[in-house]
Amino acid sequence: MIFKDFGLTFSKAGEVIESVSEPYMTVDLMASFDGTEVISHKLKKDARWGMGPDDGWNALEFIYVIEGELLVTLNNTKMVVKKGDYVKAAPIQKDCLFYATVDTEFLYVTSQPVFHHYSNILHKFKNIADEVEQKDGYTSDHCSRILNLSMLIGENMNLSSKEMHQLNIGSYLHDLGKVKVPDHVLNKPGKLTEQEWTIMKAHPTYGRIMMEETNFPILMEAAAIVEQHHERYNGSGYPYALKKEDILMGSSIVAVVDSYDAMTTDRVYRKGMSKEEALTEIKNCRETLYHPDVVDIFLSLEKEI
Ligand SMILES: [Fe+2]
Repeated sequence: MIFKDFGLTFSKAGEVIESVSEPYMTVDLMASFDGTEVISHKLKKDARWGMGPDDGWNALEFIYVIEGELLVTLNNTKMVVKKGDYVKAAPIQKDCLFYATVDTEFLYVTSQPVFHHYSNILHKFKNIADEVEQKDGYTSDHCSRILNLSMLIGENMNLSSKEMHQLNIGSYLHDLGKVKVPDHVLNKPGKLTEQEWTIMKAHPTYGRIMMEETNFPILMEAAAIVEQHHERYNGSGYPYALKKEDILMGSSIVAVVDSYDAMTTDRVYRKGMSKEEALTEIKNCRETLYHPDVVDIFLSLEKEI
């Protein structure tokens, strides 16, 4: 089964379904017959893409690089795939991550049809994520920033390909469940009542349930990251007050990145902190709110943040 990164534009038979000003990726179904699909992918520099095994998945998958360069991670081994090179699997056995080191174009050929399936899923979730971003008072790109910073930390923590694949999805969709929180609670300027706060604290679980209900394996696997993104290292978080290593590493990463982005982003009702102030705040909460290893890596990446 295949999964694509978010922030993309789809076109099918030349028809642009969605237009994004700076899409990470453009996907174009060029030909299909009898279950075989030939799909063109154009990835912007720094875009990520991935694929992994799935129950009942028994396809040939073939990737041919037309232009640019992909850094491929498989089993913590990295290899460079350049123009004219190809990668194939039949069927794929392990999660495999692709990173475009420059603007890159490649052809993806599969013997089992996926285009319609994944385009529907991605459209649905991207739309929900966009809706949540606006409802929550963010101006734009909050989810993309969380995704990019989470992946940067994950790479530097040497997470496995599988964990990175789950983090890719879980970080983007972390606040998915907020669509079920009423606007008057989500945007209440004052303090929430006990009842309102109970509703607000349910959003990670709402998100997990929504992802599991898709029966889309990679979304189901990433659902736990979403459910635990408000857990805190000292057990003061929610919904389960998990502590330390009981919290998934992916969720510990999203917790730091989401907090940092919330601190530094201008919201409708207040101005954001400076980068320096926010980093100091994160540092001060090392080993109380946030996982110390994640904080150490995050602070070491200051120049790249
Ligand atoms: Fe949240």
